[in-house]
Amino acid sequence: MMRAFVRSPLRHLHVDWCRSHLPLRYLHSKEVLRCSFQGKSWNQASVSKRSPFFTTPIFYVNATPHIGHLYSACLADAAHRWQRILGASDTIFATGTDEHGLKVQKAAKVAGKEPLAFCDEVSHEFRRLFQMCSISYTDFIRTTEERHHNAVHQFWTSLTEKGYIYKGEYEGWYSVTDESFLTSNQIHEIDRGDGTTIKVSLESGNVVEWTSETNYMFRLSAFRDKLLRWLDQNPTAVQPAKFHAIVRHWLEEGLQDLSVSRQRDRLGWGVPVPDDPSQTIYVWLDALVNYLTVSGYPQRTHLWPPTHIVGKDILKFHAIYWPAFLMAADIPLPAGIICHSHWTRDSFKMSKSKGNVINPFDRAAHFTADGLRYFLLREGVLHSDGDYSDMKVSALLNAELADTYGNLLSRVAAPTLNPQQVFPVLDSNLFPSMSAQSSTSRTTDEDYLLVESVKRLPDIVAGHYDQFLFYRGLKEIMTCLRMANAFVQRHEPWNLTKNPIDRPWLDSIIHVTMETLRVCGILTQPIVPDLTDRLLTKMGVGTKERSWDHLKCFEALEGDSREGYGGRRLSSNSSVLFTRLKTVSRR
Ligand code: MSP
Repeated sequence: MMRAFVRSPLRHLHVDWCRSHLPLRYLHSKEVLRCSFQGKSWNQASVSKRSPFFTTPIFYVNATPHIGHLYSACLADAAHRWQRILGASDTIFATGTDEHGLKVQKAAKVAGKEPLAFCDEVSHEFRRLFQMCSISYTDFIRTTEERHHNAVHQFWTSLTEKGYIYKGEYEGWYSVTDESFLTSNQIHEIDRGDGTTIKVSLESGNVVEWTSETNYMFRLSAFRDKLLRWLDQNPTAVQPAKFHAIVRHWLEEGLQDLSVSRQRDRLGWGVPVPDDPSQTIYVWLDALVNYLTVSGYPQRTHLWPPTHIVGKDILKFHAIYWPAFLMAADIPLPAGIICHSHWTRDSFKMSKSKGNVINPFDRAAHFTADGLRYFLLREGVLHSDGDYSDMKVSALLNAELADTYGNLLSRVAAPTLNPQQVFPVLDSNLFPSMSAQSSTSRTTDEDYLLVESVKRLPDIVAGHYDQFLFYRGLKEIMTCLRMANAFVQRHEPWNLTKNPIDRPWLDSIIHVTMETLRVCGILTQPIVPDLTDRLLTKMGVGTKERSWDHLKCFEALEGDSREGYGGRRLSSNSSVLFTRLKTVSRR
């Protein structure tokens, strides 16, 4: 029978735009194509790899991590794990902490600590969270490291030598919270309710202050047309499309040159400008260079260009400033900028000042790290904000991880149904392929619908995961698992345990269910690595049998004598995948 694999439109678009549109200067063609689009799969034509270099934003250390930070990290982690499953072995997945700037300088002062000691403490909290939540980073960068200091100096020097930095008088508004310069059109005045007014950023609502000083300026205005061309020629450069359009709109509004330094007497906590210690490099220029630092710049740019995962509040920095800096330095542009929306609480963005942040440590302890990861990636959609509540988390995890995934495994691993504790062999006379089905077969049309759905699942899920639409991939997986639960219900295997003559048919039912669990388990690994490890281990699927190359399934139906997994012993580990949550409190 022919397999009907779906081809992800993005893969072709991606390759096509690179081949035909990218200016050679930015393409460094061999490198981009090699990194991003080398295919390797059992259906060679259907799956292409993205660049195996993913980044999260580096996190400000002015406050401890919250659930929004974990979300950026989970998205990048799932993308990285997915590339590993597709076969990428040499990968970079970089995360870290953004430790310079006024915001951190002020937070350290308030805490009564030396800036570096303060940064050490908070940076450690991010590492601790990422370890707790299985974030599989390959590099954790801190902007206070020497390797980064060198990269920033080299990058600055390169921009200066190419004539893109000049000294000027800067006057304008600055938001310390956003570490962002703003024009008068980007701010407005609000009433504080006590008769006084303050000026705030229109976009973030954060307070701005007037700044007037001698700074170094970057010729950002010179890049407007090039950036517009880049966007127009690369429809997937910024994803989802909604954010691509927003960036385009910002560019159409015009670009002014950007102040890229502060006087050192105002901002001492940062990298000094080379050859001018009276100035400190702007924290965003410093921070963005972290992506180069982790690739080995200036000595080398291993696996460049990366795919950046960022929240919508920092899109401007990644989709305008960063590409402009890179163009100026003659370095290839990012392979992609994936932008996500925010987690809110009662519809308000979480922030420390509002006091409405959700603590990811205690939520991971309560729901398990996998439970929290599952919720964020299943419920979070890139293009719109999601409101967090513990009630929603409990309901989702109970319905999907406990009642659907867990229930299916406990059914087929139960000693009553499976006394031999094996991944049983399928009898292809009793459960033949759909074309060989006869009027005496006990199989039903719905059974073949399940089999065909599971066979098609890898390509469908790949299409979604490739576009960072993890929630859509999970929805498809859940559909198959629900179909498998209905399949078990339909055939009532518990009524087949008495008479030994029913054993081959009972085994065939368990085999089909376990094949479904195996395929779903492999595909869910990027989302819930611990749960799927326990699932696959329980079914005797080895750690080297969990990649894309192992997603061929139901070969036994075709009478394939190699049969794969049938006959293996189940491990003695618990078959409880996820314990139902009892407390459903409103938080
Ligand atoms: N330090 C800068 C990034 C520099 S990257 C060169 C920064 N740090 S941050 O700690 O404020 O934010 C880091 C990430 O967390 C961003 O992607 C941001 O969008 C994300 N989130 C912060 N709050 C969030 C929510 N409430 N919801 C989802 N993600 C949000 O910006």
